[in-house]
Amino acid sequence: MIVLGVETSCDETAAAICSESKILSTIVSSQLIHSDFGGVVPELASREHELLLNSIVEKAIQKAGISKTDIEGIAVTKGPGLAGTLLAGVCFSKGFAHGLKKPIIGINHLEAHIFANFLADSDLQFPFVCLLVSGGHTQLWLVEALGHYRLLGTSRDDAAGEAFDKGARILGLGYPGGPEIEKLSQGGDREAVRFPRAFIKDKNIEFSFSGLKTALLYYMDSYDKNGNITKADIAASYQYAIVDVLISKLILAIERTDVKTCVIAGGVAANKLLRKTVKESLIDISVLYPDLALCTDNAAMVAYLGELYLKKGVSSTMDFDINPNLKLA
Ligand code: KG4
Ligand code: ZN
Repeated sequence: MIVLGVETSCDETAAAICSESKILSTIVSSQLIHSDFGGVVPELASREHELLLNSIVEKAIQKAGISKTDIEGIAVTKGPGLAGTLLAGVCFSKGFAHGLKKPIIGINHLEAHIFANFLADSDLQFPFVCLLVSGGHTQLWLVEALGHYRLLGTSRDDAAGEAFDKGARILGLGYPGGPEIEKLSQGGDREAVRFPRAFIKDKNIEFSFSGLKTALLYYMDSYDKNGNITKADIAASYQYAIVDVLISKLILAIERTDVKTCVIAGGVAANKLLRKTVKESLIDISVLYPDLALCTDNAAMVAYLGELYLKKGVSSTMDFDINPNLKLA
């Protein structure tokens, strides 16, 4: 089955073609327009999607070497995300599906992130634990089968990606903050500043990152740039604090569930320190993560998951709605 995937939950306009669980093409256009604002401006993002969608989808079709009429189904992100940007993608996709007279399915963005791991290894077996770390979510899931997910723990406040983004802003870096902090951290001493690690000694599976961000803010208030500690040291210490907490709770989740496989997903899963530390910390566990380009927002994961559902005969009716606060379970 040939499926077109469309993703517009935030500031990436993305389209991809998937056929028999293989990605034939994937196009992602990241909106640079927001970098001057230090974060995504929803109104600008929606307008950009509307301007770009047609050409991005055309490109995906062309790159896949198919024609529009070969498409047998459309999968589009329906939530969670920004209301206006979700609407841009869903309205476009409904029109497309209507024109082609093909089925459409609204996809949960979080579920798609998790399933991006099957694009890294098609032999990935259920059950597995997933550390889902994006700009809006930090969650641990027990993934038992397609459609069967158990939440093991989540963040009380900020998500890990948010901690990177807010930390970057405090450090005077650009948006998105994760890659910026990662870059600045290179060569920095991660032991230079001991930032707080909320709940790290507790036996609960819960995260909190708002205190960490505040600690950085206070630290920078009294920071002496002529002293021994460089900005690279601070970035490395901040990144280490985030990764340290994520790993400790991931280990706890694996102990609790007794599974033998774990995956990471979402934009923060692109972080090299996190990828390396997960592998090093979980010796007897099979660890998997998507290619870098499939960690951050993309439509390949949407098309892949859409094909799984459409092949099972699951689709949405034409009047399905977006849901900016859509949950996974
Ligand atoms: O999954 P994603 O692309 O969008 C959401 O669904 O939110 O995740 C975006 C988040 C941003 O907070 C961004 O700073 C973070 O992922 N991110 C990273 C890296 N690349 C993206 N965080 C740490 N290290 C990275 N290399
Ligand atoms: Zn995402």
